[in-house]
Amino acid sequence: MPPRTIIEPFRIHSVAPLRMTTEAERREAIGRAGYNLFALRSEDVLIDLLTDSGTGAMSSEQWADIQRGDESYAGSPSWYRFESAVKQLFPFSHVIPTHQGRAAEKILMTALGAPGRVVPNNTHFDTTRANVEAAGAEALDLVIAEGHDPSLDHPFKGNMDLGKLEALLRERGSDVPLVFVTITNNSGGGQPVSLENLRGVRELCDRYGVPLYLDACRFAENAWFIREREQGQGEREVADIVRDIASLADGMTMSAKKDGLANIGGWLALNDDELAARCRNLLILTEGFPTYGGLAGRDLDAIAQGLTEVVQHEYLRYRMRSTWYLGEGLHRAGVPVVRPVGGHAVYLDARALLPHVPPLQYPGHALALALYEAGGIRSGEIGTVMFGRQTDGSEKPAPLDLVRLAVPRRTYTQSHIDYVIDVCAEVAGRASELGGYRITEEPPALRHFTAKFEPVAT
Ligand code: F0G
Repeated sequence: MPPRTIIEPFRIHSVAPLRMTTEAERREAIGRAGYNLFALRSEDVLIDLLTDSGTGAMSSEQWADIQRGDESYAGSPSWYRFESAVKQLFPFSHVIPTHQGRAAEKILMTALGAPGRVVPNNTHFDTTRANVEAAGAEALDLVIAEGHDPSLDHPFKGNMDLGKLEALLRERGSDVPLVFVTITNNSGGGQPVSLENLRGVRELCDRYGVPLYLDACRFAENAWFIREREQGQGEREVADIVRDIASLADGMTMSAKKDGLANIGGWLALNDDELAARCRNLLILTEGFPTYGGLAGRDLDAIAQGLTEVVQHEYLRYRMRSTWYLGEGLHRAGVPVVRPVGGHAVYLDARALLPHVPPLQYPGHALALALYEAGGIRSGEIGTVMFGRQTDGSEKPAPLDLVRLAVPRRTYTQSHIDYVIDVCAEVAGRASELGGYRITEEPPALRHFTAKFEPVAT
């Protein structure tokens, strides 16, 4: 019998210290930060699970490629290596580099969004939604009903509801400039979309003459889920599954800070020549010349190498297993988590754990703050703070109140994760004592980044 333990397919090459803090110090730090985890100094955080974006460890090959980076303003070899690596997996005609994913979204939405238009997605990520709305268009989330039930097991909870998409296209097809599908569905629990579902979306897009774009930040994790869960896919190379996914779409936006295994970067890729020309002109206004976008040549090289590593099966097997280990540990400790566990993160169901805190007192936020105070763990609310504010300034509960424990790639060890499970279990054991929060200051959009809070007196 081969050994059952799935190990990290790497050893540690350089280390960064963690700064230990006491609970009293953390209470003071979070008070100073207006009870907003984004406003903390990261040195006051012990285990940082705020995001898996740009926070992973690069490989020694990537660091070597950083040294090879060529900073020529135009036509650098780094650009050609980057373009070729992207096209290996996503053979779209045009690749437009950007400093990160949201810049690609901004450019695409500036070109295609307008008042009166509506953009469907399985679930918009917050920056995607904000960019759709900033262009004056409406952002519509059409994930399948199963995607709204945190306790329901379903292999592809990120799937688009094809019935709802068809109804939208039938009624308002001429107002829909593109259909987006987010893989994996981050705001819906890091859940994958099946190839079959993508084919269904493609068919509808063909029938109604609307282009299909992928928000492909976690494409490799999504492809691994397809390999594991979709019939007939189990023996295939992940890179081939990724190419199948790409072949169903007309374009993509990408954050290389996720499955690019890089600390910065992104791109917009598409087949439409005329639209690509318009997007490149927009790129030049804010990002830079089309052979570097908002990136240094060395970043382009780090991404090119990252794209070859992220589709390796040993890496993905370890990656998915380590996220699963966190989710399983929490589940076993009685902490309610979104099932099945996502690819890049485990999502705690704060509404289930804190039923005594009403959604408009932000149970997800309350739980995230308790995890920080108790154990120095920084997580992120994905719930009513993030999505509750309406465009007219009113507020209503988000469909779910979750806390995301996002796992940076190749960064934390199993004992770090065991510690996280311990802290979560301890906080869950006294959940009934946790109180809610109110917002004292907030900006009109993306309020979770900068809002200030105070505890609601109980
Ligand atoms: N789309 C999805 C699905 C994302 O998860 C993100 C970023 C973006 C687009 C924007 O990319 O950050 O490079 O501009 N998600 C990070 C997160 C921030 O923590 O989930 P970006």
